[in-house]
Amino acid sequence: MDDNKEYISNSNFVQDFGNFTDRDFHKLSHFIFHEFGIQLPDKKKFLLKSRLVKRLKILGISKYSEYVNYVMEGGTKGSEEVIEMIDVVSTNKTDFFRENAHFDFLIDKVVPDFMGKGIKSPKVWSAGCSSGEEVYTICMVFEEECRLNRLRDYQVYGSDISVSILKKAVKAIYPFSRAEQIPDRYRKRYLLKSKGDGKQEVRILKTLRDKTHFIWLNLMDDQYILAKNFDIIFCRNTLIYFDRETQKQVVSKLLEHLKPGGYLFIGHSESLLNHNIPNLQQIKPTIYLKIK
Ligand SMILES: C[S@@+](CC[C@H](N)C(=O)[O-])C[C@H]1O[C@@H](n2cnc3c(N)ncnc32)[C@H](O)[C@@H]1O
Repeated sequence: MDDNKEYISNSNFVQDFGNFTDRDFHKLSHFIFHEFGIQLPDKKKFLLKSRLVKRLKILGISKYSEYVNYVMEGGTKGSEEVIEMIDVVSTNKTDFFRENAHFDFLIDKVVPDFMGKGIKSPKVWSAGCSSGEEVYTICMVFEEECRLNRLRDYQVYGSDISVSILKKAVKAIYPFSRAEQIPDRYRKRYLLKSKGDGKQEVRILKTLRDKTHFIWLNLMDDQYILAKNFDIIFCRNTLIYFDRETQKQVVSKLLEHLKPGGYLFIGHSESLLNHNIPNLQQIKPTIYLKIK
């Protein structure tokens, strides 16, 4: 297949958007790294190219080089396009009860610890929340803890840079197949099945949705617009896209929003080893306690 031509599914239609040169790629990948911290190594060139096709078609732009200039130098319209571009560039893979050991730890260790300290209504932040599965997993776990009178209430904040993914999170409607990862006891209590229209979907119960707040937030910002009183922060499978220095800066800023005695959870393939972040005690390989 000619590398300069894009094929759309079920059709022989071919549209030529010109060459996505190394220069275009480097210009754009440096811009994305600078603005959003996301690293796009050379091997991601073709992935980026194929993901951008959609945007070129929507905008009626005929060349990649023109698109790169439009995003980077295009004034207000270009800034609006940055939001659209980051939607297609970011990797949003997520699941309910992903890395399940963290939720067992919440139940077995964190809640008893909070009970001992008199924290009855913990405030949680999922930074890089994607389409909301992590946020609603925390809600299900904490709603159950409220039912058992181990907590009184809870609030869960979710933030992300992708607008389209945040809209999905707010809707809280998921294909039925995705709900299979949810343990039975939660699934039966906290999901509504869609009625009629043949779609196999579930929606998170309103009681849980009412405990959530979703906001657009770039972790590369100098300061975060959220309050500095979180009891728990999840930042999982998001740091992995940043380089070491950016990871350290992001974690340091996140910690300003975590109360002393609060917990930080990172993804199982992430590490803060050798980052020398003060006042952070490692409890498990991917779980940290803020000491003061
Ligand atoms: C792979 S998902 C992880 C979702 C969830 N935390 C989990 O572990 O399943 C990573 C998310 O981080 C978001 N992200 C990437 N760079 C970001 C940035 N600079 N600021 C905020 N969110 C970012 C992406 O849009 C994406 O939704």
